Amino acid sequence: KNIVILISGGGSNMAAIVNAAHQQRWHEVCGARVAAVISNKPDAKGLDFARSRRIATDVVDHKGFSSREAFDAALMQRIDGHDPDGHPALVVLAGFMRILTPGFVQHYAGRLVNIHPSLLPAFTGLNTHQRAIDAGCRFAGATVHRVTSELDDGDILEQAVVPVLPHDTAESLAARVLTQEHLIYPRAVRRLLCV
Ligand code: GRF
Repeated sequence: KNIVILISGGGSNMAAIVNAAHQQRWHEVCGARVAAVISNKPDAKGLDFARSRRIATDVVDHKGFSSREAFDAALMQRIDGHDPDGHPALVVLAGFMRILTPGFVQHYAGRLVNIHPSLLPAFTGLNTHQRAIDAGCRFAGATVHRVTSELDDGDILEQAVVPVLPHDTAESLAARVLTQEHLIYPRAVRRLLCV
């Protein structure tokens, strides 16, 4: 059961999943393994981590494509190329900062998940931490959810909640939430593939 993880930047969520798969021996337990890490950004730091762990990496630079559909088609080909039967068991969006077309979402229907740094359905979209602080929220958090063609919609698979503290900045809150992301994302993937 191959997992392909898509990143755009640091890839800390990808790293948490790679580490959990190793430490919890997913491959022995249920045949699940991270087969590839793919980024739309050639300089994504997460690619260095994947390479250091001998995981196949790919870059599909969205700047090289004239349309969203053309980019998504190229991305799908790369993703499917990392699975012998041409269809990974799970595609994991981890800090992947691209809106995907309905065609892409349909192609991976039921096998596509994302992590969003808010307690969905609150605060879909960007700048979630600053918006939670500005709204006076006492709590914030992260959500792992199935991906549909609606942005940050889809069935909720895992959530974690953290307090918003009086002097929090978006950065301090983001760091507190990210720590929880690294716990709930591996748990969600394991539950989908290993039980
Ligand atoms: C995290 O806030 C995550 O919730 C969002 O992207 C940010 C960076 O994630 N999807 P990562 O460190 O690249 O995994």
